[in-house]
Amino acid sequence: MTEIEARRLVLRPIAESAALSLLQGVRPPELVFASGYPSQFSLETMQLVADGHTSTHGGPFFMVRGQDQAIVGEIGAGLDLANATAQVGYSVVQPAWGLGYATEALQALVEHLFTVPELCRRVVADTMADHAASRRVLQKAGMTCSGRRVEDVDGAVVELVSYELTRPPPSRAQRTPSGP
Ligand SMILES: CC(C)(COP(=O)(O)OP(=O)(O)OC[C@H]1O[C@@H](n2cnc3c(N)ncnc32)[C@H](O)[C@@H]1OP(=O)(O)O)[C@@H](O)C(=O)NCCC(=O)NCCS
Repeated sequence: MTEIEARRLVLRPIAESAALSLLQGVRPPELVFASGYPSQFSLETMQLVADGHTSTHGGPFFMVRGQDQAIVGEIGAGLDLANATAQVGYSVVQPAWGLGYATEALQALVEHLFTVPELCRRVVADTMADHAASRRVLQKAGMTCSGRRVEDVDGAVVELVSYELTRPPPSRAQRTPSGP
């Protein structure tokens, strides 16, 4: 799987062995974890990895902080290849909220996904309508609100909002082959 470089973070594919270990409550000794790890979302992500829901370009990935190699969260994309669409999800451990990590990771993942146009020409996300922080992350990554709906989630009626971003058309320089 691919590793993706961001400014302060590296997005590193989550190995199945690490996911299985974390699900058993054991921290792999070779990995460094930020305070507050794992979150409930972390464990849900580990379950996805354990169940084989992984892909080369969609991850999921650990968000690894460059300065100390500590894992501060996870991010990933489910790929709908028939429609070249990626559905993204992300989480950061609570002590590291508000430092821009989710935004940085999402921007890097989106940029990466758009480099493979046959794989992804559209990125989408769903979040709770009242989840201001998550909505802000999506907006800061350039995504725009495309719809609202009410759904039953685990027995509770919740209002969800959808966001999307379409891959910009290639620039003239990208379209025109360079000289001989
Ligand atoms: C949502 C989440 C990923 C944000 O991570 P983060 O690293 O703190 O996000 P960022 O720092 O990149 O950006 C958060 C933005 O939300 C803003 N924000 C936070 N709480 C807010 C609130 N209650 N109201 C309005 N804005 C808020 C921050 O000020 C920041 O915006 P700014 O840079 O313009 O000031 C994190 O809160 C989280 O992991 N939550 C639990 C898991 C989750 O809900 N994942 C999303 C599932 S769709």
